Amino acid sequence: MSFFSDPDAVARYAEGPVRLVPGFEGLQRMTTLLLRESVPTTGNVLVLGAGGGLELKRFAEAEPGWRFVGVDPSAEMLKLAQATLGPLLERAQLHEGYIDTAPAGPFDGATCLLTLHFIPAEERLQTLKALWQRLRPGAPLIVAHHSFPQAPEEKARWLKRYAAFAVDSGVPAADAERAIAAISEKLPVLSPEADAALLVEAGFEGVELFYAGFSFKGWIAHRPL
Ligand SMILES: C[S@@+](CC[C@H](N)C(=O)[O-])C[C@H]1O[C@@H](n2cnc3c(N)ncnc32)[C@H](O)[C@@H]1O
Repeated sequence: MSFFSDPDAVARYAEGPVRLVPGFEGLQRMTTLLLRESVPTTGNVLVLGAGGGLELKRFAEAEPGWRFVGVDPSAEMLKLAQATLGPLLERAQLHEGYIDTAPAGPFDGATCLLTLHFIPAEERLQTLKALWQRLRPGAPLIVAHHSFPQAPEEKARWLKRYAAFAVDSGVPAADAERAIAAISEKLPVLSPEADAALLVEAGFEGVELFYAGFSFKGWIAHRPL
């Protein structure tokens, strides 16, 4: 979390996802299209881990009638979201804090992009349940984050692929090596099977994988009707 409260690091945030997340632009487009499947044109969308404002901007530009609540514990990242949104901020309420203190909704859809891998499994289950509670019956949740096999050899292979993508995007090799050491030691990453099972345990149904970009995976699931 310290990265997200460091003003210099936050100022450079927007460069990160494009260089580090394979198909980041496509991920945002697919998330928008998946929301559109069921969020009405005047719907309201909950965005967890909204710091930086990249997906808020994308969604707001795609659907001029949608309104948003963006939740994030980092004041610095929310400041960046304000700047990213500019005049679009008028349709977004930014909430500094965790999901348990977020407005109750109910929301027509929710997203959580590049965020759940920071949250340990037990807390992640509570986070998913809190998202579920804030959705209308039948509404979608779309998530994407690091998720790869946890057996040592496979884990090392996927982290190497993450580093190779970063280096191919212009990240110095030594920085990419340091990043994968930090991910390996510090991030509570789950296997894709455990991630999907956690969504089911939280009460979601119809869990479908829609995105796989090397170490990152994305799912759509729905609160049952
Ligand atoms: C890598 S950024 C992703 C931001 C944005 N979703 C995107 O795709 O560009 C991760 C964000 O998650 C936030 N975060 C960390 N722990 C969180 C938690 N428990 N609940 C909600 N957000 C959290 C961080 O402050 C940061 O803004």
